[in-house]
Amino acid sequence: MNNFTYSIPTTIHFGTDQLSHLSELKNSGSKVLLVYGGGSIKRSGLYDDVMKVLTENGMQVTELSGVEPNPRIESVRRGVELCHANGIEMVLAVGGGSSIDCAKVVAAGACYDGDAWDLVLDRSKIQRALPVYAVLTLSATGSEMDEFAVISDLQKNEKWGTGSQHIKPVMSVLNPEYTFTVSPRQTSAGTADIMSHTLENYFTPVKGAYLQARMCEAVLKTLVHYGPIALREPDNYEARANLMWAGSLAINGLLSDGADVSWCVHPMEHELSAFYDITHGEGLAILTPCWMEFALNAETAWRFGEYGRNVFGLTGEDDMEVGRRAIECTRAFFKEMKLPATLGEVGIDETHFEVMAEKAAKGSVGSFVPLSKDDIVSIYKAAL
Ligand code: NZQ
Ligand code: ZN
Repeated sequence: MNNFTYSIPTTIHFGTDQLSHLSELKNSGSKVLLVYGGGSIKRSGLYDDVMKVLTENGMQVTELSGVEPNPRIESVRRGVELCHANGIEMVLAVGGGSSIDCAKVVAAGACYDGDAWDLVLDRSKIQRALPVYAVLTLSATGSEMDEFAVISDLQKNEKWGTGSQHIKPVMSVLNPEYTFTVSPRQTSAGTADIMSHTLENYFTPVKGAYLQARMCEAVLKTLVHYGPIALREPDNYEARANLMWAGSLAINGLLSDGADVSWCVHPMEHELSAFYDITHGEGLAILTPCWMEFALNAETAWRFGEYGRNVFGLTGEDDMEVGRRAIECTRAFFKEMKLPATLGEVGIDETHFEVMAEKAAKGSVGSFVPLSKDDIVSIYKAAL
């Protein structure tokens, strides 16, 4: 196991009736920028509930609305301007990963003397940020409890992740009931995203990180069990609660610290989103089995064998054979979740494979199995 420093400063208020904890925002001042997406929180009534608590606590609210899925740098810039114009002291995101990611970079951008895109390209430039708070409405990214934010500049076909201790949320409210209204499509995409975060951590060559691997398997089993239930029964609290907590734990360092390895399916997917603005989790579901087929070999089979036995309950002595069947189980799970299986289904053809693969190869240096640009092109082709 590698050395690590584990620090999660985010306070989580999990469960029903937790919104009153927004009173804690008073610790950061009184002027808050409320960041949200295209209107789901207004339709669900959450917006009114949030505003009620904020005004009852004497907060002055400025709004940044309309944050796009795959949040754009233009929204971040708008948010930074609002911060400067209104003397904003903290940022509160209410929504999914896109709203939270946007809020994080707005919070850093408000404390940075330059264009916020600099902070996306170079995380070391994030030296300070306004305090970030979140109310989560979609189980997927783990942004509510991690240090990352992913922002796109679609005019340049660029989508990059940045990260800093300074943008970890101070406090997040996680009420599984808020996810009852998430569409079947986003429920599936979110589950695939959590699964991919866990798999990116699981497929590590670091020796001796036994505990991390077993915790990954627990998260994976939770997703395989509860994903289909949430799809069938959107208001099943138990399913939504398990998915929600799995989403936070998958990427907050618990599964990766001590076993760190570069991620590779995410860089490949971020290129798809950058060029085609597709839903992140759907891209991951398409690429993951194809990457697994590429990665399974005599040296890596041990981990695929563990995956098959411990997550899907497969039996057999031969790791390669169990590994192959585990990949089929992964495909079958995504199919059960009604996720797309090919790039063609989400409108992607070979046009940009070369340039996407070149960028993705740079982003995945040091991953579980080395990936050259040509390897990534072959994975994209297998996904067609
Ligand atoms: O915009 P609104 O109207 O709120 O609707 C959203 C959006 O259309 C809707 N939605 C969210 N909560 C809902 C709901 N609809 C009904 N009821 C609710 N309770 O769902 C749609 C998708 O929302 P979005 O926030 O875009 O989804 P997600 O949470 O999957 O976030 C995706 C973004 O996060 C990035 C992705 O790349 C993508 O840009 N990621 C962020 C990470 C991080 N910060 O650590 C890591 C991830 O790997 C990922 O890259
Ligand atoms: Zn992801």
